[in-house]
Amino acid sequence: MHRVALIKGDGIGPEVTEAAMEVIRAVTDRINFVEFEGGTEVFRRFGVPIKDEDLEEIRKMDAVLFGATTTPFDIPNYKSLIITLRRELGLYANLRIIPDLWGDREIYIVRENSEGLYSGEYEVDDGRIVDFRVITENGAERIAKFAIELAKERNLKEITFVHKANILMGDRFFRRIVLGLAEREGIGVRERLIDSFTIELVRNPWQHRIILSENLFGDILSDLASIHARSIGIIPSGNYGTEIALFEPIHGSAPDIAGKGIANPIGAILSGAMLLEYLGLNGRVIWDAVRDYVKEGNLTPDLGGNAMTVEVVNGIVSKIEEREIDPIEWDELWVDEIRINTIPTLFMK
Ligand code: NAI
Ligand code: MG
Repeated sequence: MHRVALIKGDGIGPEVTEAAMEVIRAVTDRINFVEFEGGTEVFRRFGVPIKDEDLEEIRKMDAVLFGATTTPFDIPNYKSLIITLRRELGLYANLRIIPDLWGDREIYIVRENSEGLYSGEYEVDDGRIVDFRVITENGAERIAKFAIELAKERNLKEITFVHKANILMGDRFFRRIVLGLAEREGIGVRERLIDSFTIELVRNPWQHRIILSENLFGDILSDLASIHARSIGIIPSGNYGTEIALFEPIHGSAPDIAGKGIANPIGAILSGAMLLEYLGLNGRVIWDAVRDYVKEGNLTPDLGGNAMTVEVVNGIVSKIEEREIDPIEWDELWVDEIRINTIPTLFMK
């Protein structure tokens, strides 16, 4: 039995995580979800986005499934829950998969998740604030390794490294480390500058299969690339550390549609698929079921349909059930088709 912490969050967070759990339950009964509270309400009561004792409990779990939380600008000193979790759990690699669900392509965005411009380090002087864009040797090496292992596992010959090394000292350092490791591992590196690369990512995205970048750059690139997936609501992600991993759709709490029952659950459901893969279970069946469903099923309004969340969930669950494979066989299928895994095996639990 695997123990998975569940943090639903607010806005559409609870709607989409419940959807993901329902789909996971259709695949396996080997996961025990343990729910934890976190976010704005916890901050108002306790002054932290998540309680210390809860964090301690979460550290002992195998993985985390996360929805989304609203981060208000107007609470002094409020710290975002997801940023806190990434830092506290040492989740240094953020893998965001931009899928072409109607075709058969994907773009993997590997975003450094623990330092860069989101280091959280800043200096306040009279009339001047400096946010530090931190690149460390260890930080650069481990994220480069993640991207390169992913390329090797997917039989790809190269990765795209996006930086601004013509201007930023940190990126010159980062670049040396990426190029060095890639060369030793026999993987090519296509280099692009962040500013002009945005045009390429809009016009001609699919030629880039694995995109590696610093924290803020990776954040922006993945939201931009979501256009090619047709909605931000379908993009899943994993945050990996050495001890634990956290899975979440990349979208936020979407207050504009919260409570209406129309949130697209696919991003959370595919995050659930990545979670199963991390635990060595069959996540692929979920990817397949989602691909089957979107080609003929009614979709939520963000994808031009008029379905409610629940209709999409039921449709995907039926697709899983249609496959009529019992859980034991799924595990065998998993071993045979290990390359289908969306994360480098090295980084599995
Ligand atoms: P957002 O992703 O919540 O929403 C952007 C737009 O996409 C909205 O129009 C929304 O309706 C739509 N959208 C997002 N997810 C959708 C889904 N599953 N189905 C259908 N439509 C969807 O980003 P926004 O508006 O910038 O942020 C809202 C709040 O979420 C903020 O407080 C922000 O801080 C927080 N946020 C939290 C994150 C997290 O907890 N991981 C990540 C990003 C934002
Ligand atoms: Mg973002």
